[in-house]
Amino acid sequence: MTRRRLLPSAAMLGLFGATGSGPASAVSDDSLSQLAARSGRYFGAAVRIEDILAEADLRGTVLRECVSLTPEFALKWDAVERSPEAFRFGPIDDLLSFAVQQGLRMRGHTLLWHGSVPDWAQAQLRSQRSWTLVQRYMEAVLSRYRGTIGQWDVVNEPIETGYRMDGLRGSVFLEAFGPDYVVRALHEARRLAPGAELMINEFALEADSKVESDRRYHFLKLLERLKRAGAPLDGVGLQAHLDLSKGPVRAVVYAPFLQDIAGLGLFIAITELDVKEYDYAQPVDRRDRDVADATARYLDIALAQPAVRGVSTWGMSDRHSWLRVTLEDLARHQGSWKDGSTPGFNRGLPFNSSMRRKPMYHAIANALQHAAARRG
Ligand code: XIL
Repeated sequence: MTRRRLLPSAAMLGLFGATGSGPASAVSDDSLSQLAARSGRYFGAAVRIEDILAEADLRGTVLRECVSLTPEFALKWDAVERSPEAFRFGPIDDLLSFAVQQGLRMRGHTLLWHGSVPDWAQAQLRSQRSWTLVQRYMEAVLSRYRGTIGQWDVVNEPIETGYRMDGLRGSVFLEAFGPDYVVRALHEARRLAPGAELMINEFALEADSKVESDRRYHFLKLLERLKRAGAPLDGVGLQAHLDLSKGPVRAVVYAPFLQDIAGLGLFIAITELDVKEYDYAQPVDRRDRDVADATARYLDIALAQPAVRGVSTWGMSDRHSWLRVTLEDLARHQGSWKDGSTPGFNRGLPFNSSMRRKPMYHAIANALQHAAARRG
């Protein structure tokens, strides 16, 4: 295992000192973090250290807007241990150094996620069903970051409906250890990082559809079972990858769900907010307005719930978004783009690809302001 490297090199310090160019338009001088703080909340974003080091405008924007960072990729199992015992902590150490240096918090995303188990570990889990493998990995990560990362997504995306009575996803963890793997992982995390807040993070829980209503039901049932079993679970992460094809989020549906989570004594974080567009053929103004409206609608409902502690977006600018305009999207428009331009990026993050604020930015700012006003 490589040695812990928390202090940044001089070169990195030089880079981190620069705050880059500020965002262009200025409606409010307050950053999203400052606005969030007015209702006792935080604002943050998912980032990659390579981008932060290479792009001064991104660095400046992150430093201006965020108090919390989430590693988009570097802290996933397949990034940390691509081959057995060959741990690669460099990128996450660098990001953590940046965060510590700048007084930012970092979320621990994520320990057990079916989407980021390296192939070799999947094979071993399936053939040996040995908890020791999971334990060893959790120990390597949690012992290294015990003092610096105070919050962990211990299990990411455990729910999948339509397969089992308990709504658990048929992941490699379920296959190897049965439905108790969630509670086991939480206990393991508590043992290895006693001071950290432990969370379950989940997606697709906000839409007004049959599928997502089933997902909400099974998610709540899982939380209830965990609480009843005395599992050390402190909070819940709601990813909130909004999707314009799914129609508007409705308060009558979503607010009671948030209240049910709060009723179990859990705090809530909005962990991965972004918006997947549907109609890329619309003029850009219209696209940006639709994205902003969906964001406003969602956040007004979410931030009315006092248990919601803060909001992170899954990236800052469209140029870093994991959402791409796909071939399917193109096919839907039969290749014709109304304004004759190329489709470019999905526009579902607060800054455009030149790091200018978009209407989504203002939608977030307004929602945070409303929340502060409500709290009075
Ligand atoms: C995504 C990243 O954005 C990609 O870069 C990576 O290749 C795959 O994972 N839900 C999650 C995140 O919890 O970890 C995912 O991030 C997006 C969906």
